[in-house]
Amino acid sequence: MSHTDGPQKAWAGVFRVPTDKRVEAFSESVSFDRRLADDDIDGSIAHARMLAACGLMTVQEADALAQALEEIRGAIHAGRFEFTAAREDIHLHIEAALTERLGDTGRKLHTARSRNDQVATDLRLHCRRAIDRLDTAFAGLQRAFLELADREQGLVIPGYTHMRRAQPVLAAHQLLGWCEKFARDRDRLADCRRRTNVLPLGSGAMAGTSLPIDREHVREALGFAAVATNSVDAASDRDFVCELAFVLALAAVHLSQWAEEWIIYSTEEFGFLVLPEGFCTGSSIMPQKINPDVLELVRGKSARAIGNVQALLVLLKGLPTAYNRDLQEDKESVFDSIDTLEAVLGVAAPLVAGTAFDRARVTAALDRGHLDATSLMEALIARGLPQRTAHETVGRLVRLALTRGGSLADLSDQEFSGEYAGWDGGLRGALGASRAVERMKSFGSTAPAAVAEQIAGWRRRLDGAAAT
Ligand code: ARG
Repeated sequence: MSHTDGPQKAWAGVFRVPTDKRVEAFSESVSFDRRLADDDIDGSIAHARMLAACGLMTVQEADALAQALEEIRGAIHAGRFEFTAAREDIHLHIEAALTERLGDTGRKLHTARSRNDQVATDLRLHCRRAIDRLDTAFAGLQRAFLELADREQGLVIPGYTHMRRAQPVLAAHQLLGWCEKFARDRDRLADCRRRTNVLPLGSGAMAGTSLPIDREHVREALGFAAVATNSVDAASDRDFVCELAFVLALAAVHLSQWAEEWIIYSTEEFGFLVLPEGFCTGSSIMPQKINPDVLELVRGKSARAIGNVQALLVLLKGLPTAYNRDLQEDKESVFDSIDTLEAVLGVAAPLVAGTAFDRARVTAALDRGHLDATSLMEALIARGLPQRTAHETVGRLVRLALTRGGSLADLSDQEFSGEYAGWDGGLRGALGASRAVERMKSFGSTAPAAVAEQIAGWRRRLDGAAAT
């Protein structure tokens, strides 16, 4: 085959020379946009039906197109469809296959349509489907955290700030904190879906069409919420792609933070968590190793999700009005973000489901690190001491305990009285990590009643119909 062979181009009329093979190889996108095949076929069937309804083709022609498009879908799914760089992208592949089957009827499908509004529509359909799958996957992860929180009800763990022991919290409280983050991620997905769910098809290349089309007909058929109002903007708007990539990058950051925390909590040094063995891997040289590689990859994969946002923003920043071929480069970034998050969520939920706390180890070490200092300070405030005075008083008591090498509860009543004249045994009720948790009162706190209410609330949200 010489460098001039190959199928005739959709744009052949004006050209005196065939496309250079090197250009075909350089500009093809079918190697990655073939994953839009289902969306392209859905869009084309809706478009053909609309053309028939508007008298731009017969109903028989639209029926033949729809049937042939379904056959092509079947062939693609079955791996019986030939892809070639010479046909450039998925849109031209499917159209060429139609024309092979139907002749002139196939040549009518592209009436009142440009690949510019076509690819924009396909990508919106694709992202909308991905958003719905991802939302379900995030809900599954939330459910896994909820179940673990429920199983660990009553377990008090040290809470950390600056990675230093801070205040005791219920393990369930901290676990449900992840549910909150993923709820915001799902909320952002839903918001992004709203702006994705707008129909560009009918915008043509950029100016619309002089043919009597009915965009509302296509909107209805494809389930879009609205028709884009400005053809110049609609055929090149990729805000929804950037938004989805960002939402997924932030979710990947949440997942990375979680992974980092659990890597630390499952170390021999911490020993809080026991990861499921099936979700750990070993070392080829050190026989004893049970490594948290899955969590490390969850953390590591956030890098590409973050990078994809950067790539998309830079891609768009120099583009003048309407479609420019640069836009073809949007796909691999957003596809990669979708694939990455789906892969991460696919292992995260079962990993959480299979994880348990080492309750004995957590509890044995709980009364180290003066987790009850703030609790004692608040008890003194409740007795009328100004906060700064109470803070200083407890600070001096902690210093005394540090000198003794014990906890606050190990100090004698005499030692307490030396720092606070109003000391009485009742104040000992504020000491100890477990008691500190039980004394919590505020809404949203780690108070056992508040946490039980959170668990019930998450059950309603995740088991109810309108789960978010
Ligand atoms: N493959 C192209 C893309 O992904 C389709 C649109 C091409 N349009 C054009 N006029 N060259 O953006």
